[in-house]
Amino acid sequence: MAKREQPPAVVLEDVSKSFGSHTVLDGVSLTIPRGSICVMLGPSGTGKSVLLRCLVGLLKPDRGRVLVFGEDVAALDERRAKDRAKLFAIRRRFGMLFQDGALFDDMSVFDNIAFPMRLHTTMSEAQIRDKVRDRLARVGVGHAEHKFPSELSGGMRKRVAFARAIAIDPDIVLCDEPSSGLDPVMSATLDELILELHRSLGMTFIIISHDTAEARMVAEHIGMLANGKLVTFGRAEQVFAENHPALEQFFTRATQGPIKVV
Ligand SMILES: Nc1ncnc2c1ncn2[C@@H]1O[C@H](COP(=O)(O)OP(=O)(O)O)[C@@H](O)[C@H]1O
Ligand SMILES: [Mg+2]
Repeated sequence: MAKREQPPAVVLEDVSKSFGSHTVLDGVSLTIPRGSICVMLGPSGTGKSVLLRCLVGLLKPDRGRVLVFGEDVAALDERRAKDRAKLFAIRRRFGMLFQDGALFDDMSVFDNIAFPMRLHTTMSEAQIRDKVRDRLARVGVGHAEHKFPSELSGGMRKRVAFARAIAIDPDIVLCDEPSSGLDPVMSATLDELILELHRSLGMTFIIISHDTAEARMVAEHIGMLANGKLVTFGRAEQVFAENHPALEQFFTRATQGPIKVV
C-alpha cells in the first residue's frame, strides 16, 4: 500500500507583505521539511520577524499561501469561529522563543514553564511538575525552578525561555534571534542546546538569526532575506557552496554590496 505523503512542516508560496508603501516581503517561496533545522539569515529590518508572525497567523500576508503541515494559515480568519479553532490548533503546534526572551517577571521559573501547560492542556499538577522538571533538566537549569527571572543571568533566562518554548511538545520551534544579547561563548552554548534538543526531541526548528557562525553550526537548511526577497534558500552545504553575493557580504561584514544599508 502506498504510504500517504505527509505535508512538509512549512511551505510558503509567493508570500508578499507591505506596510503602506513599504514592501517588506516580496514574493517569498520556500519549503521547510519536517524535522529540519532551518536558519533564516538577513540584515535588520528585512522582515524576518514579520515572516515568523505570518507563520503563526498573527499577521496576514497581502498575497500568497502559508502552509503549515498543509493548512493555509493565511486563508484563516480569526473572526470566524471555525477558522479561529483551526488557527489555535495550529498555534498549539508551535513553540516560540521571542527575540527578547519575554519571561513573566512576577512568576517563578517553574510557573513560567508550567504556564503553557496550564493554559493549553488538561495535565494534572503532578504531570505538570514532572514535565517542568524534565524541560528544565534538558536545558541545564534544573536547579533554578524556584528562582525568579530577575535573579538569573542573561544566558539562564534564555535557557528558561527555551524550556518554555518546548513545554508542550511543539512540532515546530520558532526562535527569533536566540543569540541576540549573548556573548559568543554563551551563544555557542545555546547552539549546542538547539542541536541537542533537535537530536533528542526531533522537532522542526526555524531560527531567525543574523549570526553566520550560528548558521554554520546548526543549519540543515539556510535561507537569506535581503531587500524583501528571499535571495537564496536550500540545503546548508549547497547554499554555502553557492555563496550568493548577499550571503558573502554578510559573512565578510562588507559595507558595500547588494545589501542596502538604510
Ligand atoms: N505592524 C507593523 N506595522 C508597520 N510596519 C511594520 C510592522 N511590523 C514590521 N514592520 C516593518 O517591517 C520591517 C521589517 O520588520 P521586522 O520583520 O521586524 O525586521 P527584522 O528582519 O529585523 O526582524 C521594518 O521596517 C518594520 O518597521
Ligand atoms: Mg526581528
